[in-house]
Amino acid sequence: MRILVLGATGFVGRRLVAALQQAGHEVRCLARDPRKAEGPGVEVVKGDMLDPEAVSRAVDGVHAVYFCVHTLSKQADPSADFMDVERTGLRNVIDAAQRHGVRRVVYVTAIGTDPASVNSWARGRAQTERMLFDSGLDATVLRPGMIVGHGGDGFAMVERGARSRVAVLMASRRTRFRTIAVDDLAGALTDVLDEPRAYGKAFDVGSDDVLTIDEMIDIAADHLSRKHPVKVHLPRRALAVVGPLIERVAGMPRGAVGAFVGPGSEADLVGDAKPIRALLTSPPRSFRESL
Ligand SMILES: NC(=O)c1ccc[n+]([C@@H]2O[C@H](COP(=O)([O-])OP(=O)(O)OC[C@H]3O[C@@H](n4cnc5c(N)ncnc54)[C@H](OP(=O)(O)O)[C@@H]3O)[C@@H](O)[C@H]2O)c1
Repeated sequence: MRILVLGATGFVGRRLVAALQQAGHEVRCLARDPRKAEGPGVEVVKGDMLDPEAVSRAVDGVHAVYFCVHTLSKQADPSADFMDVERTGLRNVIDAAQRHGVRRVVYVTAIGTDPASVNSWARGRAQTERMLFDSGLDATVLRPGMIVGHGGDGFAMVERGARSRVAVLMASRRTRFRTIAVDDLAGALTDVLDEPRAYGKAFDVGSDDVLTIDEMIDIAADHLSRKHPVKVHLPRRALAVVGPLIERVAGMPRGAVGAFVGPGSEADLVGDAKPIRALLTSPPRSFRESL
């Protein structure tokens, strides 16, 4: 099949492109900077997901679309709310898919989406997931927890911590995360592509390992034969106060950082990874194997 990937220049998207190609599919990407998306056999359409015409050009002629973007990144209009950015991008994809007769859309969010959550990220994504399911398209949502691999925002904290004597951490000491190797996530996304049993459903995805950041750091330090570091957890209320400043300096959309450290952000990201297992070609690796 010919597959469009949005977010192909990102941590997950890069692995997804490779996994799709390995499974024999042709891949097209929508990329704001085409040079970042170029690769053997990859067709690149230049554009922003906020531009309906660019999205329409990218969707025209494909069999399926993966929406694998993260709006905790620089946006053309940093004064826009981060969830509005994601909602508009997904709306553009849904409209273009309906216009061009593309039925299959796979959306990556995160464990913990909940319409009643006090956390704006978890609540906002429950709404965007619903918007996709209400579109009438053959939609599937995959929700990872902590994604293990080089280049991941969350995992970078584990990697840095394991190589340090003193690990300074933004995550709470208590929060528990279900882990998944980034290649296992890319494999799961590829496995559900042509799988009607996944249509209309959202799945938590991950290994059987559920760990705190401190536990992950110590296991990673063991893996590197290093001493366990001292862990210093920064007070999240202080981070929430400087969130708007970080967003302004980095050109991130409004509220993106605040949602990560604000109310509800300490909730466990565990979910239930069992229902998707019947659809996967291989079981996910443990945290240690992922390292
Ligand atoms: N990383 C984790 O630990 C983690 C954990 C749980 C869930 N997830 C989910 O996994 C998904 C992918 O995350 P990731 O870690 O791969 O993110 P990432 O590395 O930050 O990549 C984000 C991608 O989105 C693209 N993007 C952002 N805004 C865009 C726009 N306006 N138009 C077009 N493309 C745009 C970026 O393109 P540019 O290269 O142009 O910036 C990039 O390709 C997200 O849904 C995220 O919530 C990630």
